[in-house]
Amino acid sequence: MMDGWTRVCASDELLPGEYRVVDADGTAIAVFNLDGDYHAIEDVCTHDGGELTGGIVDGHAIECPRHGARFDIRTGEVLCPPAWTPTATFPVRIADGAVWTRDDRWD
Ligand code: FES
Repeated sequence: MMDGWTRVCASDELLPGEYRVVDADGTAIAVFNLDGDYHAIEDVCTHDGGELTGGIVDGHAIECPRHGARFDIRTGEVLCPPAWTPTATFPVRIADGAVWTRDDRWD
């Protein structure tokens, strides 16, 4: 148990190319394994608030399933409109055989 962190899943349950979504104290966080590197972004498209997960993942990019905005999973930056504002990114830790994340915006 890590204080203030939300357990995502066992680390061997998040394989390269996969993602998991967790509710971290009210924030929907999508945690990705991109070729062995873990990245977490808020599961919210800044265009119109849709969920990003379910959209196509292409390399380091995810495409919003609603109107096609693309975000960089590593940085949250917008790669393609109609979104203009980055989505939030969050820290990821591997500990006790599990993947953990947290919303650190309000620390
Ligand atoms: S809600 Fe994502 S592109 Fe419109």
